Amino acid sequence: MKALRCFSLLLSLSVVTALGDLSRPQNLSLQTLNTQYVLHWDWADDQQTAVNGTLTFTAQYLSVLQSRKAAHKQKWRTVCADVSERHCDFTDAGLNYWGIYYLRVRANTAQWFSSWTNISFCPDRDADLGPPSSVKLTSVKGDLEIVIADPLSSTNESMKTLAPDMHYLIQYWKKPEDYKKGKVLKTKNNVVTLSELDGSTWYCVRVQSCCDFYNKTSVFSDTHCTRTEDGKCSDCEMDYRWIFIAGVTAAVLVLAVIGYIIYKRNSKGKWT
Ligand SMILES: *[C@@H]1O[C@H](CO)[C@@H](O)[C@H](O)[C@H]1NC(C)=O
Ligand SMILES: *[C@@H]1O[C@H](CO)[C@@H](O)[C@H](O)[C@H]1NC(C)=O
Ligand SMILES: *[C@@H]1O[C@H](CO)[C@@H](O)[C@H](O)[C@H]1NC(C)=O
Ligand SMILES: *[C@@H]1O[C@H](CO)[C@@H](O)[C@H](O)[C@H]1NC(C)=O
Ligand SMILES: *[C@@H]1O[C@H](CO)[C@@H](O)[C@H](O)[C@H]1NC(C)=O
Repeated sequence: MKALRCFSLLLSLSVVTALGDLSRPQNLSLQTLNTQYVLHWDWADDQQTAVNGTLTFTAQYLSVLQSRKAAHKQKWRTVCADVSERHCDFTDAGLNYWGIYYLRVRANTAQWFSSWTNISFCPDRDADLGPPSSVKLTSVKGDLEIVIADPLSSTNESMKTLAPDMHYLIQYWKKPEDYKKGKVLKTKNNVVTLSELDGSTWYCVRVQSCCDFYNKTSVFSDTHCTRTEDGKCSDCEMDYRWIFIAGVTAAVLVLAVIGYIIYKRNSKGKWT
């Protein structure tokens, strides 16, 4: 697995000044969630107020392996061609989660185009991890059962297939109190039972997805709260059993005493 992971590459932003009249896009950044990747950029409008015609942008990507080839052999793939927005959605571009890529963008007008600005991107290393796609909380006897659905990729695949080290941090706390006073449970399971809770008490739960390899943590899921059932019930059953045994014992003792008295009377009668 480690071999597949991206090795550390520094963000490579171009520093060369624009060759043409058109200034190049700046401040490339990615807005990501699981396997959704949107590239954003800025463009210094004020410098180009004299530019005629419509301003558009072109965004492309190339795998790092390809980038080692001679420039004329590199096959950059265009994801957004001549778009007027300052962002481009790479989600459906077919980037491999473990691949390393260069993404680049340039500005175009009818007459000119700027030079490119690039950024390196490895989804496994750089993309944000989402929270569980759902969290269900139910009260079962005195316990709480939590059912966690994995975060999903853009093709509805579990993120566990892409990040096998993914696990969950479950925070739970009693309702009038704050989550800061609660407890945290780390698990790889999708079904978790919290036991040794107080009876007839409201508990709240929220869950976060985590991956240790690149130290990723998601935002928390929504908070779910429910009330535990009356915790005395298991004790009650116990008490009834003892009361029953005590009752039976008492009855047996009383019968034995009565039996003894009757026996004494009868035996007395025999002798008199
Ligand atoms: C990315 O930009 C840097 C700085 O301009 C440049 O040195 C590098 O060759 C570019 N990489 C690719 C793959 O175009
Ligand atoms: C790029 O980001 C810097 C810092 O946030 C900002 O000062 C600058 O104006 C941005 N460039 C453009 C073209 O918006
Ligand atoms: C913009 O258009 C005007 C006329 O409409 C022309 O005089 C000028 O040279 C053009 N500028 C550029 C940068 O193409
Ligand atoms: C993923 O699941 C959602 C909800 O079940 C559905 O609306 C969507 O079309 C699915 N997407 C894919 C790519 O299967
Ligand atoms: C992981 O992230 C947490 C919080 O963001 C931070 O406290 C911790 O030092 C990081 N660990 C590593 C190994 O980067």
